[in-house]
Amino acid sequence: MADNSSVYEAISLVSDPFELFKDWHTKAKSHSDIKTADAFCFATSTSDGHSSCRMLIMRLFSNEGLSFFTSRLSQKAVELRENPLASCCFYWEPFQQQIRIQGRVELTEELSDKCWET
Ligand SMILES: Cc1cc2nc3c(=O)[nH]c(=O)nc-3n(C[C@H](O)[C@H](O)[C@H](O)COP(=O)(O)O)c2cc1C
Repeated sequence: MADNSSVYEAISLVSDPFELFKDWHTKAKSHSDIKTADAFCFATSTSDGHSSCRMLIMRLFSNEGLSFFTSRLSQKAVELRENPLASCCFYWEPFQQQIRIQGRVELTEELSDKCWET
């Protein structure tokens, strides 16, 4: 059995997490074994602490954060209006690498046109 212990070493030298994300995401996008490099697990929580998660597709990424599409009527949208703090996790299996992002989610319609063009 292969020794994968080094795979799980903490990345402690990164000063800019956005650069780390861009680096790993770019690598994942160009890997032939990864079909959905933009897929991530997204977790929301009601104000009384009931959490739920689901898979989503990232549509845009910048130093301001990431964006995704969803229905305003969905459970996640309802929960985000109640509690905008959420977290997500990307996992790229061939590299055994994951990135977790936590933050405040803004519900907006402004990005819609841009996203539909992609
Ligand atoms: C790989 C994958 C990608 C998905 N991408 C999206 C997405 O970008 N937006 C979305 O609203 N739902 C997406 N879904 C469906 C969600 O996982 C989820 O079932 C749906 O949004 C309803 O979630 P909610 O009821 O928790 O709000 C995706 C599902 C899978 C399996």
